[in-house]
Amino acid sequence: MKKIQFPDNFLWGGATAANQCEGAWNIGGKGESVADHMTAGDRKTPRRFTPEIEDDQYYPSHEAIDMYHNYKEDIAMFAEMGFKMYRMSIAWTRIFPNGDDKKPNEEGIEFYRSVFEECKKYNIEPLVTLSHYEMPYNLAKEYDGWADRKCIDFFMNYCNVVFTEYKGLVKYWLTFNEINIGAMHFGALMSCGVLSGAVTELDLSKPFVETDKQKNRRFNALHNQFVASAKAVKLAHAIDAEYKIGCMIAGMCSYPFTPNPSDVLETQKRMQIGNYLCGDVMVRGEYPHYADRFFKEQGVKIDLTDADSRALKDGCVDFYSFSYYATGCVSTDPETLKSAGNMVFGVANPHLKSSEWGWQIDAVGLRFFLNEYYSRYQIPMMVVENGLGAVDTVEDDGSIHDPYRIEYLRRHIEQMGEAIEDGVDLIGYTPWGCIDLISASTGEMHKRYGMIYVDNDNDGNGTMKRSRKDSFYWYKKCIESNGTDLD
Ligand code: BG6
Repeated sequence: MKKIQFPDNFLWGGATAANQCEGAWNIGGKGESVADHMTAGDRKTPRRFTPEIEDDQYYPSHEAIDMYHNYKEDIAMFAEMGFKMYRMSIAWTRIFPNGDDKKPNEEGIEFYRSVFEECKKYNIEPLVTLSHYEMPYNLAKEYDGWADRKCIDFFMNYCNVVFTEYKGLVKYWLTFNEINIGAMHFGALMSCGVLSGAVTELDLSKPFVETDKQKNRRFNALHNQFVASAKAVKLAHAIDAEYKIGCMIAGMCSYPFTPNPSDVLETQKRMQIGNYLCGDVMVRGEYPHYADRFFKEQGVKIDLTDADSRALKDGCVDFYSFSYYATGCVSTDPETLKSAGNMVFGVANPHLKSSEWGWQIDAVGLRFFLNEYYSRYQIPMMVVENGLGAVDTVEDDGSIHDPYRIEYLRRHIEQMGEAIEDGVDLIGYTPWGCIDLISASTGEMHKRYGMIYVDNDNDGNGTMKRSRKDSFYWYKKCIESNGTDLD
């Protein structure tokens, strides 16, 4: 493989989210989030949402990997790897415990200030997600989450506090993590905090049943997030002209299973709604041409006011970011649908291999989709999540050999390099779970993405000790050489 030069100021780093790593769920004045009501699960047992915290259940976000008390050690290890950027999220409930409080929680504000100052010490640029599947539980319960427009104002109060408090400490922000998950039936609760009629079991292998009314509520909740995001962009720029705000889209990327035109057309439709809709609104400031017909056919009526339209136009994002793990295929053939293994990413692609969790690994697809997105939007891009969830083994001498992860990262980095050579303005890469953390979909610890191992198991047992995996040293070398040494 030829060596590719990444831009000199390329933002190499790693990514986490508060509910999956911070813990301290009821410490320091933090309120409960929807994520705090999700039980642990594993590959075979789906996570459950419980309206009350049940005594005999384990809720992994409550302690997670206790980064709340270990952030200095963790950031020092990120610095040792040479991180230029650290993507993390603020738990909204640490700033406004109930979401609709009149005054923010000072202890929460100071906590994140210390985290950002720690990053600054090492010249690590924080990339801060404002909402990463962390809806305040009170807003879900009392307002049905983003289905209620009032959440826009609550979110703006929160944004106003963090944009003002962290001026000079943070430059890059993301509004909603994987906002397009709200465009999918399973996203109502996790992404939009909509409790009414929510499916309480997170089993992505089963078909979700959703009434027309629920669908309408979900898409209106998503619309309210669009408006909130656009207003946040405008507010951020008014508070600090240096702020850069991005959208964050789950790369739900699909290919047609065959060249049959009906597969091709169906793939286009799937990509439009599942993948492009949110980016189109957030980058261009208006709903795309295909939205009307889709909403009509689905019986969805978006409550789009003139003021909303103006807000969307005034709040276009500065850069486009996305997560990228896997791709799938789309088929219209009922026989294929039955036999080819229908996953959340679509039908299995016979040319690709899967991870232990059935996610199909497709490094070349990353180059393809980077080119697709860039030609569509023409603004700077960041890959803010990518990686391999795998089981790791600790050897007797404490070492952790993870060649499978190194191989995954190497192949994807090579393809990012190719995309840069193709002309894509890619400015950063923050692979997911740079330190092992709780899996979002299964709620387990054993699905590890990290270059840093954390001694904790699926039931929350362990010392929480941090150790360097082989991938730690490999990624350090990659960053040091600015992507040229991937051996
Ligand atoms: C993304 C989310 O969907 O994928 C993360 O933004 C999540 O929160 C990541 O952890 C990996 O998924 P999982 O289910 O393996 O944790």
